[in-house]
Amino acid sequence: METRTPVLQATNLVKTFGRVVALDGVDLELYPGEVLAIIGDNGAGKSSLIKCLSGAYTPDAGQLLLDGQPVRFHGAQEARAAGIETVYQTLAVSPALDIASNLYLGREERRPGVLGSVFRMLDTKGMRQRSEEQVKRLGITTLQDTTQAVETLSGGQRQAVAVARAAAFGSKVIILDEPTAALGVREGNQVLQMIRDLRNRGLPVILISHNMQHVFEVADRVHIQRLGRRAAVVTPETHSAEDAVAIMTGAKQAA
Ligand SMILES: Nc1ncnc2c1ncn2[C@@H]1O[C@H](COP(=O)(O)OP(=O)(O)OP(=O)(O)O)[C@@H](O)[C@H]1O
Ligand SMILES: [Mg+2]
Repeated sequence: METRTPVLQATNLVKTFGRVVALDGVDLELYPGEVLAIIGDNGAGKSSLIKCLSGAYTPDAGQLLLDGQPVRFHGAQEARAAGIETVYQTLAVSPALDIASNLYLGREERRPGVLGSVFRMLDTKGMRQRSEEQVKRLGITTLQDTTQAVETLSGGQRQAVAVARAAAFGSKVIILDEPTAALGVREGNQVLQMIRDLRNRGLPVILISHNMQHVFEVADRVHIQRLGRRAAVVTPETHSAEDAVAIMTGAKQAA
């Protein structure tokens, strides 16, 4: 039996869109320092689930607990302020801006003293410097120059920027919706390595992926979502990817 307090816990989440039931009473637990994968077929409710966790959706019913305390987020900003950072399936990067500006998008820092407080001048140099440190600390070798415009980056590099951004500011939980879907083998592996690094730094990660190989490579536990419900939670030690897919598709009942 698990006795630790989850960093993030959801109980009995319900989310409907008109007659469509996206979430039909879903529980989820994310424990300290783990990678929790969420798998499920298209439309199983994965994105809806993480949108409820990240404040993008307000669930119709159910409860969220952060470090054991009940929380209610009215919008993604509130969840971010509480330490939950999400990288959505549709990447929220600004192509025209450079890497450093993307990392600080929405939380630009001002220059110290009157230049910042009175003249509202941005601390461009400081943000650039801290971006470079952040990118280096995460071991993202694919990004070399943080003044490079994001529109000139490859798909994998853009994803790396989005993950770096989440890692820079997510103090409690990082949520990644399909971070490797559009990536080649090498870039996909780099994102997987970033996920491991985050976990090794003690940050728990929720990873949504259709890629069973990736899931079984990095996840500590696997939440299987099926038809708006949690069908099972398995571990790579006790279940194979084939077992998980069988539960996901309903070919097999969870043991
Ligand atoms: N904004 C919305 N309006 C109406 N229906 C929605 C909305 N968002 C999700 N749904 C419906 O809720 C169900 C769950 O969708 P969701 O996006 O959570 O699935 P998913 O598991 O993320 O699928 P995928 O693997 O395709 O990303 C689907 O039937 C979907 O059509
Ligand atoms: Mg989805």
